[in-house]
Amino acid sequence: MNPVKLTENVYWVGAIDWDVRDFHGYSTNRGTTYNAFLIMDEKITLIDCVKKNLKNDMLARISEVVDPAKIDYIVVNHVEMDHSGCLPDIVELVQPEKIICSKMGEKALLQHFHQKDWPYEIAKPGNDISLGAKTLSFLETRMLHWPDSMFTYLVEDQILFSSDAFGEHLASSERFDDEVDQAILMEELTKYYANILTLYSPLVRKLITKVEEMGLEIKMIAPDHGVIWRTNPSMAIEAYKKWSHNEGDGDALIIYDTMWHSTEHMAKGVGAGLQDAGISYKLVNLRHNHRSDVMRDVLNASGIILGCPTLNNGLLPRMAGFLMYMRGLKPTNKVGAAFGSFGWSGESVKLLNQAMEDMKFDLVDDGLKVKYVPEENDLSHCKELGRKVGQAIKASMDKK
Ligand code: FEO
Repeated sequence: MNPVKLTENVYWVGAIDWDVRDFHGYSTNRGTTYNAFLIMDEKITLIDCVKKNLKNDMLARISEVVDPAKIDYIVVNHVEMDHSGCLPDIVELVQPEKIICSKMGEKALLQHFHQKDWPYEIAKPGNDISLGAKTLSFLETRMLHWPDSMFTYLVEDQILFSSDAFGEHLASSERFDDEVDQAILMEELTKYYANILTLYSPLVRKLITKVEEMGLEIKMIAPDHGVIWRTNPSMAIEAYKKWSHNEGDGDALIIYDTMWHSTEHMAKGVGAGLQDAGISYKLVNLRHNHRSDVMRDVLNASGIILGCPTLNNGLLPRMAGFLMYMRGLKPTNKVGAAFGSFGWSGESVKLLNQAMEDMKFDLVDDGLKVKYVPEENDLSHCKELGRKVGQAIKASMDKK
């Protein structure tokens, strides 16, 4: 198994997970990687680990450079099991002099692995650690996206080891940003931010400002998933800036589920209204689109229009599940509207509105309900709803 050189004496020694398709509810259709990095210096240092089942892949790559038992320090930027699952085995093998982590990282490691005797060393911003010729510096990135998360910066090489941030779930034989299809890279970068970081956008904004103020020179960003940004790290940083400010692209999404096609007809009517208003839109049927792909599109949309019929005084299960997922991620700064068919009680539109109000969407009106099957007149109301949303999106874009 080949390690990959980033700079002199710095290697990627992680693992490629070609098979994973579900990452705690996030669909990983292109697999992923768990990146770990080896720094060869007076103190040989391993930055992050991999999932437990891929330990031998990592060890085989390390062994191509050095006997793993010679590792002196292990840096744990983040305790989630995809990066720490094999840590107990590695500690056992290596007997490291230091396990470097944040204060919260130490707590989380104790709560995961219950090893009080490990040689924890708390990384603090401003307290650099010399490895010999190279120096490690640390940034606290609490809640990006766990309380223990931190970044490690290799000063002389200007490499930012950014843990989950700036990563993508993308398995590939290539290791660098300039080696993979750029459209796929951006699609997966977007999906990752949308499903992991949207909730923490205010913290992402603060972090980017802090890094800019520190004047940190970044030659490479080496995240724990996906490719290493060696040619265009600014592309990832600029994308994060935009997303953390909740800036939509001016497009709309009509996200719906349907029972006997009535709500589907309504969705098409709303789409025709958006088109009249000159707004690009996508029809997203939840039966055919995974929630994590839908969230990727929500991230860049300016308008979200939700459609669902009423079932048992509530919503269809796919819509209910999607709303729970979306509410947890808290996208903001969207124009919203709701519609749906019903037979007798008709609560769905109210429930959809409630969910969007909770997320502080700007609702254009009270929403549109149609009894059983829409007729021509109902469809023109749907079109009108689409036009209204379109005009509200245009007004919101004009304010920028
Ligand atoms: Fe890739 Fe938060 O773990």
